[in-house]
Amino acid sequence: MEILRTIDSVRQWVRAQRAAGRPIHFVPTMGYFHEGHLSLMRRARADGGAVIVSIFVNPLQFGPREDLERYPRDFERDRQMAESVGVEAIFYPEVAEMYPAGYQTEVRVKELSKPLCGRSRPGHFEGVATVVLKLFNIVAPDRAYFGMKDYQQLRIIQQLVRDMNLSIEIVPCPIVREADGLAMSSRNVYLTPEERTAATVLYRSLQWAQAQYAAGERDAAQLRAGVARQIAAEPLARIDYVEVVDAETLQPIERIERPAVAALAVFFGKARLIDNCLLGD
Ligand code: PAJ
Repeated sequence: MEILRTIDSVRQWVRAQRAAGRPIHFVPTMGYFHEGHLSLMRRARADGGAVIVSIFVNPLQFGPREDLERYPRDFERDRQMAESVGVEAIFYPEVAEMYPAGYQTEVRVKELSKPLCGRSRPGHFEGVATVVLKLFNIVAPDRAYFGMKDYQQLRIIQQLVRDMNLSIEIVPCPIVREADGLAMSSRNVYLTPEERTAATVLYRSLQWAQAQYAAGERDAAQLRAGVARQIAAEPLARIDYVEVVDAETLQPIERIERPAVAALAVFFGKARLIDNCLLGD
């Protein structure tokens, strides 16, 4: 497996794969891998292509009071895990390689960046859209794989690809969960054992919403209130938001008449966890 530290070396590697007639399948990440990340890599490989993963903790998408410094990192562990699922190259740049002195440009997907996490993390999705567009320009993949765990991020990247006329197929991948339902996240390491147990309320409340929906409930406010009530009953949880929104526009809705998502962000101590589920497909 190749460890590529520079943009030039990525371009060379990609050129060689293309010359051999292989499509490029790309998985952008911030590292500290878990089964969620690995599921994207396995899918990229199963789809038949040369798989390249990027590991870059992107400073642009962290707010001044967020966890950039303490974000977990372990390159050697990541390298081994990626290799074990057949990844052929890792792009692992320094910050200065991505944002050299004098760097100025930011990309904004205007409407989709406003609701949900956009409200509590100003500038976050501009940071995400900017780094992903840069990575797409560097790697020039045929396909790129994103988890539905970060549903708003996925929608923003789909819109970016459409708006910027990129010929990249975005492949959405299902949320991978722990045995007790907690969505896997690099940030779960911030949880104390008590918070870790308490955090299982998130998936339970989303499953409740899905069951209500399946039983015919279409009143979005009822679903939202029921999820919020269950989470609020957990003393270690502090709700950032709980919303039921249109799956495409991410705008709040009253009745579910088209596919919707129940989306939430909840603090447990220092950790801010997000999760979501589709209501209707
Ligand atoms: P990161 O949080 O490392 O996630 C990388 C990819 O893994 C994202 O597409 C994310 O949705 C997916 N992922 C994370 N947890 C998952 C889970 N439990 N199940 C399925 N997929 C999961 O998202 C980012 O990095 C960054 O914002 C990035 C896109 C790399 C831009 O910096």
